[in-house]
Amino acid sequence: MLVTGVSGLLGNNLASYFREKYDVLGLYLSHSVDIEGIQTGKADLLSEASFKNIVQDFSPKIMIHCASITNIDYCEMNQELTRLVNVFGTKVVVESIKDKDAHLIYVSSDSVYDGYKGNFLETDTVNPQNYYGLSKYQGELEVQKRDKSLILRTNIFGWNIQEKYSIAEWILYELAQKKQIKGFKDVYFSSIYTFDLAKILDIAIDMGLTGLFNCGSSTSLSKYEFALHISDYFNMDRHLIKPISIDDFKLRAKRGKK
Ligand SMILES: NC(=O)c1ccc[n+]([C@@H]2O[C@H](COP(=O)([O-])OP(=O)(O)OC[C@H]3O[C@@H](n4cnc5c(N)ncnc54)[C@H](OP(=O)(O)O)[C@@H]3O)[C@@H](O)[C@H]2O)c1
Repeated sequence: MLVTGVSGLLGNNLASYFREKYDVLGLYLSHSVDIEGIQTGKADLLSEASFKNIVQDFSPKIMIHCASITNIDYCEMNQELTRLVNVFGTKVVVESIKDKDAHLIYVSSDSVYDGYKGNFLETDTVNPQNYYGLSKYQGELEVQKRDKSLILRTNIFGWNIQEKYSIAEWILYELAQKKQIKGFKDVYFSSIYTFDLAKILDIAIDMGLTGLFNCGSSTSLSKYEFALHISDYFNMDRHLIKPISIDDFKLRAKRGKK
């Protein structure tokens, strides 16, 4: 199994989960990571020829493409680089296994939907509200050129291997320092724990599942409620979490509410 973005939030957790079952090679760009039981290597999606050589040499049976630029506001301000990594980079991934009988899994995002009505189905029209969402959708179009491919539109939470804070980590570390934090009471998501996504992927791979699926938790929470759950789970002071509206918060890129 080859995992791109192994230094990222999802990639490191998938590599850890699957190391018992597969011979895993994880590729990173700028953060070298060490995960017991897996091989790791540096490979830039934008160095097309050398990336393809690494993939050809390893010859994966399963390739999970997690590498992406994911910071939504950064993407809005750096659209050309985002297009290169998220769209052209995905094309490079697809081409790197074009002569192989490998199962390709592309991790897409709930951001391809506009977030107005909520409870989105795969049959709903996509209407990304920011450049990140658009680039993930355009990446999907590259992946759809390959028959043996699975696209999962998801939203994840979990623990990083590098020193950076995803939403759950940010909430926990701020509360641990007794800092007051604000949570959006009017932004709902159906985020899924990285290891639960790994378990779902495990089944999907065994089934040889292909096509396009939404993949999230069965219920939704506002970001404010999510913060309360994290706080309660870790026995922190939930009174430090204050509800606010996203409408009162200045963000560079537009976000959907549901
Ligand atoms: N986090 C979420 O809530 C969320 C929600 C929906 C969908 N997703 C999708 O899930 C996937 C994983 O997200 P994540 O949160 O794990 O991402 P992340 O933590 O931001 O990690 C991104 C990964 O991509 C690598 N990368 C960036 N540019 C690259 C390039 N030019 N060549 C090769 N590798 C490159 C990074 O490598 P270095 O760090 O080594 O530079 C890192 O390993 C992404 O496709 C994302 O769109 C995430």
